Amino acid sequence: MKTLYAHRGMSALAPENTLAAFSLCPEHGLKWVECDVDILADGTVVVSHDDTLDRCTNHSGSLYDHTREDLEDIDAGSWFGDEFIGEKLPTFDQFITLMNILKLNVNVEIKSCTSGWENTEKLITGVIEGLKNLNREANVLVSCFNPLALAEFKRRCPDVAVACLFEKEMPEDWLSIMQACKADTIHISDEGLTKQKVEELKGHGLEVNVYTVNSLMRANQLFNWGVDGVFTDIGHQFPSRYRQG
Ligand code: G3P
Ligand code: MG
Repeated sequence: MKTLYAHRGMSALAPENTLAAFSLCPEHGLKWVECDVDILADGTVVVSHDDTLDRCTNHSGSLYDHTREDLEDIDAGSWFGDEFIGEKLPTFDQFITLMNILKLNVNVEIKSCTSGWENTEKLITGVIEGLKNLNREANVLVSCFNPLALAEFKRRCPDVAVACLFEKEMPEDWLSIMQACKADTIHISDEGLTKQKVEELKGHGLEVNVYTVNSLMRANQLFNWGVDGVFTDIGHQFPSRYRQG
């Protein structure tokens, strides 16, 4: 069975990484969501891809200069469309509560906190605390581009599956990085990805997921090569065999 990960939620239909975007998954038959998490100045873990508010909210500035109290005034929906005015930038706790209601599986991507290691550690702690409230039945996969952060998460949560994220140009020692993180899953960029590369990764017995695939033809090709899952913004357009009612 190939897996579709709703990349930042159903992000072609609703503003990315909002509860509105995640809420659309069940009706489109997507069982897995991917979200990005980062941290505010007061240690609140929030669901956001960017470390600034500029692109996806009606505010600007660094996440690290804002607190939970500020979330009341921040609109994370109006940039996408008027019907989403008032949509909030979710806290990780709110996200987990929604996952429990919707009974979804979660891939939490820990962002490489650009405000330093101390904050990265706080972010990891916040993610661990938040995940304690997730339904036991839910599948969890934690991923990160920063192997130090991912290894630290795995050290503290050895029973949670982790995936190493790599950019288009993978480092030569990518396999050692995977082993250091105790990761059986690899998340790689679709850019320039070849059949030969997929076969190499599969040859190591890895679960291979590819981001971000917004073409059905390309997804089909990747699945034929042996890729296990794709992150997509357009899960609603995939054939029903990839989605579960
Ligand atoms: O986790 C897969 C994918 O989301 C990684 O890239 O930049 O969309 O978070 P990005
Ligand atoms: Mg992501």
